[in-house]
Amino acid sequence: MSSNKRKKKKRKFGMFILIIILLLGIGITYFLWQYLEKNKLKVIYNENLNVEINSDVTYDVLVKEVINGSLVNGSDIVDTSKLGKQNLKLKVKNNKSEEEEFEFLIKIVDTTKPVIEAKEEIKSYVGRDINLLDYVKISDNSNEVIKAKVIGEYDLNKDGEYKLKYVASDSSNNQVEYDFILNIVSDANNKVFTTSKGFLGKVIDGVTYIDGVLIANKTYALPSTYGNGITKETQDAFNKMKNDASKLGLNLWLASGYRSYSFQKSIYNNYVKMDGQAAADTYSARAGHSEHQTGLAFDLNTITTAFAYTNEGKWVNDNCYKYGLILRYPKGKDNITGYMYEAWHLRYVGVELATKLYNNGDWITLEEYFGIDSKYK
Ligand code: DAL
Ligand code: ZN
Repeated sequence: MSSNKRKKKKRKFGMFILIIILLLGIGITYFLWQYLEKNKLKVIYNENLNVEINSDVTYDVLVKEVINGSLVNGSDIVDTSKLGKQNLKLKVKNNKSEEEEFEFLIKIVDTTKPVIEAKEEIKSYVGRDINLLDYVKISDNSNEVIKAKVIGEYDLNKDGEYKLKYVASDSSNNQVEYDFILNIVSDANNKVFTTSKGFLGKVIDGVTYIDGVLIANKTYALPSTYGNGITKETQDAFNKMKNDASKLGLNLWLASGYRSYSFQKSIYNNYVKMDGQAAADTYSARAGHSEHQTGLAFDLNTITTAFAYTNEGKWVNDNCYKYGLILRYPKGKDNITGYMYEAWHLRYVGVELATKLYNNGDWITLEEYFGIDSKYK
């Protein structure tokens, strides 16, 4: 064998050994890796880590499997109160009882619709200012305050059966709808009308309001049970006016304030006995028709025509409107109000309307302003 050939053979052998070592190395590494992998602590999470907001979830629900270890905080409750991504820390024990922490991300979502609690039918009377949102309760798993919307056309001043819908949606756009019927009815004591001057009149439980102003005159009566004293706003207006008047040396006092139905009845009947019905009707209201029963009217000082000529009477005529009070039965308007001039009888209507009716001293009556009459029917 030539030395060349021997050299070649030697090199081949060297290569062979190298490959063997290399293969052995790969093999050992592979088996070592396999061994380590097999014994490695591993956590397998659920595929879907979307968690419903405010749901009761513990860590072990989110973990599918722990290989070569066990959960430490598996029974801990996950905070699911906020929408969006959330990083959680899972505590796991390996086979050697050493604790390791794993971070993982969950997403808190809201896929649940709000819940609507409402009645299938809401009944109301024509003219009632009801808020349909007072009749619905919305709850949601997100604990958000959710307001419902009413879908559909309706008119609270018109009777009818209105088919409407409540709609509510949460911030994750989960929407819920609820069909209901708004049933608006009218009867003799509950109705609406329009005056000749175009004002909206409402009769609510037998009490008439025009443009929101309570009206009691010969045409519009009050139920016998209505009223229970002078109203606070009326008393306040009187007190203020009396106070200002006294600064000018004028003395105002309440001669008659609230009068019940039955009290008015006895007063009127006495006048009828005294003067006869036709005359009594010119200055005293029949029971149920007196403004005194509203608690919004009162008589001042002396109930005589002479009051108009006193300093008090003159001052009241020109200043009462500043306190929201009107001269209810002005001079020369007997045929309109149904009553003779009463310089002492004031009615509270609020400063805005009182100022209009004062009309720079040329009093306009409620009947003229609203376009209504005052006649027993
Ligand atoms: N004096 C008024 C009109 C009433 O009796 O109410
Ligand atoms: Zn009076």
